[in-house]
Amino acid sequence: MNLPDPKQLEACAERRHKILEALGEDLLVLPSSYLKQKNSDVHFLFRQDSDFHYLCAFPEPDSLLILDPLSKNQKVTLVVPPQDPLKELWDGPRFGCEGALEHFQVDQALPSNKIHSALPNIFKNRSVIFARFDHLSPMLSEVEEIIKQEADTVSTRRIRPFIHDMRLIKDSYELECLREANRVASAGHTELMKKAAIYKNESQLDAEFRYFCAMQGQADMAYPAIVASGANATCLHYIVNNRAYQDNELILVDAGSSHNLYAADITRVFPSSGKFTAAGKELYQATLDIQKKVLSKISTKLSLMDLNEYALQESCKKLCEMGIITDSFEDAMQKGTHRKYCPHGIGHHLGLDVHDCSHSTQNYRNSKQKFNLQPGMVITIEPGIYIPKDDPDVDAKWRGIGIRIEDNIHILEKGYENLTLACPKEIDEIELLAKV
Ligand code: GLY
Ligand code: MN
Ligand code: MN
Repeated sequence: MNLPDPKQLEACAERRHKILEALGEDLLVLPSSYLKQKNSDVHFLFRQDSDFHYLCAFPEPDSLLILDPLSKNQKVTLVVPPQDPLKELWDGPRFGCEGALEHFQVDQALPSNKIHSALPNIFKNRSVIFARFDHLSPMLSEVEEIIKQEADTVSTRRIRPFIHDMRLIKDSYELECLREANRVASAGHTELMKKAAIYKNESQLDAEFRYFCAMQGQADMAYPAIVASGANATCLHYIVNNRAYQDNELILVDAGSSHNLYAADITRVFPSSGKFTAAGKELYQATLDIQKKVLSKISTKLSLMDLNEYALQESCKKLCEMGIITDSFEDAMQKGTHRKYCPHGIGHHLGLDVHDCSHSTQNYRNSKQKFNLQPGMVITIEPGIYIPKDDPDVDAKWRGIGIRIEDNIHILEKGYENLTLACPKEIDEIELLAKV
């Protein structure tokens, strides 16, 4: 069994300490993820819940992390699947209570088949925060019942936004993981640039990316890859990935592997047969120029929303200069004409989740609060321009081209570290790799 990295465990302990302090007198029950059925007795590959992983790194399903600030010696409890030779014969080894205690720096470990005897005392007359999923597994339904019976109050106090606020700032261990995910995913994209002219179908590029990353130890994709040739690139989250592409097209690939659950999220666009088309080249260069301008603005004096506004303004300017938008720049900005071609934001936080810290970013968005970038944040910068294939408002040469260029950026006190630097994005570099 893989043991957790000691650095990661230290970080988990510090994070739990912060949460214990914030809980006051409340007791927190945070469930792990659970196995989701795919069909009959087959499950989707298990992926641990990101918050659970962040706080204890315990890798098994159907587990609970209980944080009790009022307990003297048992502030941190893990409820884990018990050791079971028959189950382990089929599904592989479990840590069990002994392993959980020995390897995960918790105060107490309890078996999940004994929750009816072990948990009532812990929950009795307490104010419990049950950070439950929307869909409960059988084990979690039982836990919910016990909490309802025993606890004084069951609160849905929003603890996940608090955890997500913490997750916004990455520590050195997390940054190492994000660098490693980027190292492999960047090399994977580079490989696709070389292979595009040899292969003939999006599915082959998709398979090549997964194969390449798996061979480097990163079999777990951070999200389903988008391998979009020709006009498929104008669909933002195209994941069908099965079209036979032609010569003289562009292929947009948005794909990232992950390292210890930390995601890379990289997009590159490259030619199917060696050379960018003239219109493709122009739109690509425009997008790259926008990305460079946005990167040059990065500063702890601005928020991601500020960068977004700036990116939209620069995109609108480019679209007007290229004649794709025929309104004046001022009119286009006012009417929002450019939004038809630039429908998504400039980026998002990145970490354990590809769209990281969604509970805190959603909160800020809802309250229209801006928060400035801070050292230790990791975000994507991904300008995109997409011209619908049947758009009557533009010259035919632009129709059906979709460009997005996406890098992963670690914010520093001054400036930034581009984690995706190893992945080529200049036209001449890409054409050299894609040469037939
Ligand atoms: N891969 C999804 C995104 O770029 O946001
Ligand atoms: Mn992204
Ligand atoms: Mn992406």
